[in-house]
Amino acid sequence: MPSALVTGGAGFIGSHLVDRLLGEGWEVTVLDNFSTGNFENIKQAFKTGRLKIIIGDAKIIDLSGELESIDYVFHMAANPDVREITPSVHFQENISATFNILECSRKIGAKFFVFASSSTVYGDALKLPTPEDYGPLKPISLYGAAKLAAEGLVSSYCYTFGMTGVSFRLANIVGPRLTHGVIYDFINKLRENPKRLEILGDGTQKKSYVWIEDCVEAMFHVVKRFKDSRYEVYNIGSEDWVTVSEIADMTIELMGLKNVEKVFTGGVNGGRGWIGDVKLMNLDISKIRSTGWKPKYTSKEAVKLAIEARLRELGLKP
Ligand SMILES: NC(=O)c1ccc[n+]([C@@H]2O[C@H](COP(=O)([O-])OP(=O)(O)OC[C@H]3O[C@@H](n4cnc5c(N)ncnc54)[C@H](O)[C@@H]3O)[C@@H](O)[C@H]2O)c1
Repeated sequence: MPSALVTGGAGFIGSHLVDRLLGEGWEVTVLDNFSTGNFENIKQAFKTGRLKIIIGDAKIIDLSGELESIDYVFHMAANPDVREITPSVHFQENISATFNILECSRKIGAKFFVFASSSTVYGDALKLPTPEDYGPLKPISLYGAAKLAAEGLVSSYCYTFGMTGVSFRLANIVGPRLTHGVIYDFINKLRENPKRLEILGDGTQKKSYVWIEDCVEAMFHVVKRFKDSRYEVYNIGSEDWVTVSEIADMTIELMGLKNVEKVFTGGVNGGRGWIGDVKLMNLDISKIRSTGWKPKYTSKEAVKLAIEARLRELGLKP
């Protein structure tokens, strides 16, 4: 069975990927520093007897002494907070860490490198839905810029050192074990004050959401079928989109609240939630659809399921 290293494997997307790979019979090693990851996310997975964990920092770790060989590296570890505007955080956590994990992968002879990139590399795309070959790429957030730089590193390592690789440009991924994002924030705010919900921006920000199992299936599907190429980029999205205001309404309704005052901050630069917030995001998924994958859930369904899952985690729903 293949072996995989999953960096950030104790986090939201990483832990679901770990479950999936173990479910397929793979040997899995997680590297995580638990900055946002949670041991609870992978506790069950140890029962398989095929999971190992390395507690360490992706930016500085030398895996040569820890791992003899590995077939696949899934690099999920990052600072995933698109709102963070400290440049050094993105440089270190998202670029330097990717560079170090690529170096480790090269040294231990990994064959396949998977990178969790983001729709934010497109910036304010003029073409919606946005295909992978859209350009020039002009990210408007430091996070998006770091993801684009990291994609460049992955591509160059594949061509220079004979690895195979893929960068997945993810839309908003939602589901159980969320660690951040609009659904997570809205539920927290409404628990604190069930009469008032502050909404960043003007609420018209409209984006695409993907259910976590659809996302993990998409990654697995592409990796298993990958051939005839050294490096590819794939969007992972759904075909519809939802506004922030609609998500607020769905959260209020599913929490069983009434007469909640929605307070829009108005935002920055024409109603954006924060500096660097892309107002309209919808990815063209024809490339990945041509491989045979398609999302089971729409954005709206994914958002609804994710709100319910978060409420169950908090013990607010049976
Ligand atoms: N969730 C989304 O909607 C989304 C969208 C686009 C891209 N992504 C990308 O997908 C990946 C996973 O995101 P997520 O939402 O699961 O976030 P997450 O915060 O839940 O997971 C990140 C994991 O990486 C670990 N980590 C962070 N820095 C580390 C370091 N230096 N060394 C070792 N471990 C480290 C954290 O502890 C955590 O377990 C990230 O690269 C993120 O940028 C996520």
